[in-house]
Amino acid sequence: MADQGLFITVEGGEGVGKSTNLAYIRNHLLKQGREVLMTREPGGTPISEEIRALLLDTSHDEMHADTELLLMFAARAQHLQQLILPALAAGQWVVCDRFTDATYAYQGSGRGIDNDRIAALEHWVQRQLRPDLTLLLDAPVDVGMARAAQRGQTTDRFESEQRAFFDNVRNGYLARAKQYPEQFRIIDAARPLAEVESQLVQVLDEFLSPH
Ligand SMILES: Nc1ncnc2c1ncn2[C@@H]1O[C@H](COP(=O)(O)OP(=O)(O)O)[C@@H](O)[C@H]1O
Ligand SMILES: [Mg+2]
Repeated sequence: MADQGLFITVEGGEGVGKSTNLAYIRNHLLKQGREVLMTREPGGTPISEEIRALLLDTSHDEMHADTELLLMFAARAQHLQQLILPALAAGQWVVCDRFTDATYAYQGSGRGIDNDRIAALEHWVQRQLRPDLTLLLDAPVDVGMARAAQRGQTTDRFESEQRAFFDNVRNGYLARAKQYPEQFRIIDAARPLAEVESQLVQVLDEFLSPH
């Protein structure tokens, strides 16, 4: 049986550069000779992508924070069972654009749901599974918002939030990184893209050297 694959997540607020750097991360990991699966949350499977559409739909501004939290974990349960766990079991490395740390940052720090309630669902849905490595792309909220505006897609239900929400999300991520230093690596995402890439290579190579 193949070794269990590594599970790597990419986190950070709106517009910090997660999607931009995903292909770069993939190409760097492929050099290690492993198969690499790229995916995202909420989403990654047909059912989970339908739940994503529901979550991001700006016409649902009545959505209760508990509903939002449960839908996030419903999408995650399907994503794990259908895609992520089988890939890891087959020895693939999985890189996911956002995962449960985003739930702690957005639904926890952003919406104000207690960490204990999130942790209960995390155990329910994931059992012992946690990311092996989380790349937190961190930048001041203004930088991310300016980039997201420049990217110029339509605004989703989260992007429509107020400035204070995003400050709370950023602080939530930084608190998670401080609490779990073995899992997290903070990347200064306010730097030009080439410098973000070189930070990513440094962190990945250092992380992978014993693997
Ligand atoms: N380091 C960077 N410097 C300048 N612009 C960037 C940088 N990283 C990403 N961008 C640009 O910022 C926008 C948002 O990036 P994106 O990857 O979509 O962010 P996210 O997926 O984190 O929301 C894109 O237009 C992208 O080209
Ligand atoms: Mg993105």
